Amino acid sequence: MKNVNIVDHPFLLDRLRILRDKNTTTTQFRNTVIECGEILSFAISQDFPTKSVTVETPLEFTKVFTMNYPVTIVAILRAALGMTEGLTRYFPDARIGHIGIYRNEETLKPVNYYCKMPSDLSAGYIVVADPMIATGGSLIAALDVIATMTTLDSLRIATLIAAPEGINAVSEKYPNIPIYTAAVDRELNELGYIVPGLGDAGDRQYGTF
Ligand code: PRP
Ligand code: URA
Repeated sequence: MKNVNIVDHPFLLDRLRILRDKNTTTTQFRNTVIECGEILSFAISQDFPTKSVTVETPLEFTKVFTMNYPVTIVAILRAALGMTEGLTRYFPDARIGHIGIYRNEETLKPVNYYCKMPSDLSAGYIVVADPMIATGGSLIAALDVIATMTTLDSLRIATLIAAPEGINAVSEKYPNIPIYTAAVDRELNELGYIVPGLGDAGDRQYGTF
């Protein structure tokens, strides 16, 4: 699919090995998710424009480049908090919106329970972070909320593992939004988990088994 960018940098693939391993501890998992956010920040921003400015080195004036526009990260609670921490290491001035959504375990339908966003989303870029796209329901619910606040032209999605079912659902409703993911896995199982996947991203980050 043209909107899906698979970020298969060896650094990220090696972190995915750690995340997928069921023997990885909560501490290791949490730290690795943060690192994945850092690595993904390079991929999602590759086409961000730079502006030419001048600085004076100890020797002379020279032309340098800067990225000076607002970036808003939208974290889908709660599993995106680790990725968001990683993303902010390269976007230290980013504003961070939070949208609380969980999946009803029986119906797999998203339940929205919280939303706190910066007041003006129209300037700069929006990066929506969620490590897992399973049915795609949570992400679509988050995009629906954001769409009531601004256009989605400068929005992109950062995730770690997506299921084909979720990618299809998101792409059907929002075909022009770029999705950056480390992997597209085989399928969803009967409980709505991505397989092979990594299990429940929130529980594994926060030890809530
Ligand atoms: C997880 C994950 C996604 C969602 C993906 O959240 O972080 O937001 O599932 O599933 P979907 O594509 O089928 O909607 P979860 O419901 O486990 O909530 P949590 O992050 O608070 O644990
Ligand atoms: N949410 C997760 O955290 N993991 C899955 O496999 C599916 C949804």
